[in-house]
Amino acid sequence: MSEPIAFSAATNAKIADLLGRYPRKQGALIPTLYVAQDEFGWLKPEVMQLVADTLELPLASVLATAMFYTMLHKKPVGRFHVQICTNVSCYLLGSDDLMAVAQQALGLAPGESTPDGLFTLESVQCLCACDRAPTLQINKEDYFKVTPAKLKELLAQLQTEGVKLGPPVGWLAEQHHAHA
Ligand code: FES
Repeated sequence: MSEPIAFSAATNAKIADLLGRYPRKQGALIPTLYVAQDEFGWLKPEVMQLVADTLELPLASVLATAMFYTMLHKKPVGRFHVQICTNVSCYLLGSDDLMAVAQQALGLAPGESTPDGLFTLESVQCLCACDRAPTLQINKEDYFKVTPAKLKELLAQLQTEGVKLGPPVGWLAEQHHAHA
């Protein structure tokens, strides 16, 4: 049985503010899921239930929304979530090379995370910037017309930054939980 969880006072204040901006609680669902994700690192089942209870919505509605959006994490992700678009425009302009660079630099296959919690690598579908392919996204930032050399440089910079910052919120607890 998992521990009961609750939002912090700061998160509750953000949710109250969000609720004030929408005529119906359903309207505040997506931004509330983002706020919940910021607090807990990812949307584990208990967090989705907490969102459902807080907004007085059916759990099924929360789950359906969370499943639809790739930016809402249904499993733990590293501090840097590297999402490389492998759809057709990006593929034609070299997304395979970018993926190979990322896989080699991070030692990961798509869908995997480094054990230190610094990186998660994913192959994603169109990031809606086909005219600036090949494209990738790291956390909330987009990168356009990326070359393999540029990506290599960027990942090295993030590695240095990540070592200083450490894993994201909740990561160590999740690892402990997974291996307990
Ligand atoms: S195909 Fe990559 S951004 Fe559209």
